[in-house]
Amino acid sequence: MKILFVASEAYPLVKTGGLGDVLYGLPHALHARGADIRLLLPGYRALLQQLGQVRILGWFDVRGAEGMVSVRILETRHAALDFPLWVVDCPSLFDRPGNPYVDAGGQDWPDNAERFTVFARAAALLAQDALDLDWQPEVVHAHDWQAGLLPAFLADLPVRPKSVFTIHNLAYGGYFSHGDFVRLQLPSHWWSPEGVEFHGGLSMLKAGIVYADAVTTVSPTYAEEICTPEFGYGLDGLLLSRRYKLHGILNGIDSTTWNPATDAHLAAHYSAGRILPGKRRNKQALLERTRLPADDAAMGAPLLGLVGRLVEQKGIDWVLAAIPQLLAETDARFVLLGSGQPAYEQKLVRLAKQHPDRVFVEIGYNEPLAHQIEAGADLFLMPSRFEPCGLNQMYSLRYGTPPIVFKTGGLADTVVDANAATLEDVTANGFVFDTPEVTAFLDAIRRALDLYRQPALWRRLQQTGMRQSFDWSESAGHYLSLYSM
Ligand code: ADP
Ligand code: GLC
Repeated sequence: MKILFVASEAYPLVKTGGLGDVLYGLPHALHARGADIRLLLPGYRALLQQLGQVRILGWFDVRGAEGMVSVRILETRHAALDFPLWVVDCPSLFDRPGNPYVDAGGQDWPDNAERFTVFARAAALLAQDALDLDWQPEVVHAHDWQAGLLPAFLADLPVRPKSVFTIHNLAYGGYFSHGDFVRLQLPSHWWSPEGVEFHGGLSMLKAGIVYADAVTTVSPTYAEEICTPEFGYGLDGLLLSRRYKLHGILNGIDSTTWNPATDAHLAAHYSAGRILPGKRRNKQALLERTRLPADDAAMGAPLLGLVGRLVEQKGIDWVLAAIPQLLAETDARFVLLGSGQPAYEQKLVRLAKQHPDRVFVEIGYNEPLAHQIEAGADLFLMPSRFEPCGLNQMYSLRYGTPPIVFKTGGLADTVVDANAATLEDVTANGFVFDTPEVTAFLDAIRRALDLYRQPALWRRLQQTGMRQSFDWSESAGHYLSLYSM
């Protein structure tokens, strides 16, 4: 089966969050099952700089905001990818420094509407084999709002591949003005509440939901949640009416990249059969790396880790409220890595300055440190208010670092709260709180610290998580049956 993947990021070339991980893991799992994959990404500067030999597949002139824009389609084989990578090379839109979506000041690139319309137009042409490459996909799999217009362009064609659209996060709707819609000369018949119109503007995410043949999201619970007003961002009515084509398929994790028995970023390796020495060595290395004391007292104290985007979704305000309390009442230490909203960044940095012996904060994006935190911490904090799937909690389970999570989305689908019954039947793998409040979060942490002091039960909890399989094989099977429906 020929499948064209279209997205705005993919590990290891460009990644701002879990979307990048999925665009690596899923196409590889499908490739391993015999699918013939092409992955199409925008030609950001940082991406172009990583490419070796490229082949020019051809040129398109597509409509931009002010007349036609010329794009070049490149093909390359990247050492990390088992299938060809296609790139939409359009220097005026993508060859610029920094992040795929925002400028150095954290503001959305002002021409995002044009950037991702041109990207989707080029993708739609490739989906029709407009360059005569003799490669015509049977399925086009578009991801998140950046590729949301693609199913809409395809829906207008008389003969076309099947389109699947995946929602990774409904909080990002790809909203633009009616003026953008007009300037970009998008088809006027799309402009209705039944089409792409959303509160007087254009939503590229909505386009994907309306026009794709099948819509998926990244966990079964999130698929239910987004059909309700609480999680639906105003799209719950639409999603409910499209429930017949909406599927919740849990993400997998790449169990080669995230494997404590082989991870090259770690100070020592370990596995479920023998956790303690390796885990201790990683804890010590992490304390040293983060310049926290690494003496006996520190090694005996619980170390709590967090890696993630510092945005409201991730419950960072709860973390900021909980840490001072825990510093006062326990001997716990904290290692936090992330970047995001400046206000959260500043408050976290201030907290670390106030408690240099017990709190370490690194603002930024750091792949090795993310692995080292997963391995070196005793517990992983992930109190997201909503979480479409979440990969970090699965990484932490695999690394014997029980997660503390709010019961929502993919967190609810992967973490089983430790209580007498679940410890007894060996299903417990972490700690779950189900009231969206800091007091409930604190209670869950206190329960976790209590269990941490009971080594036999703790070992069992770690082993349960480490022995679970979260790899892509099962989910890839679900996607394949959806593609063939
Ligand atoms: P989301 O996609 O909402 O950000 P996920 O848990 O699905 O959340 O995925 C986040 C991914 O991004 C994980 O691979 C995580 O390790 C990585 N990540 C997030 N922030 C950072 C950071 N500051 N440094 C390194 N990796 C990070
Ligand atoms: C989004 C979600 C996250 C999910 C990731 C990959 O960024 O916030 O929960 O794991 O996409 O699907």
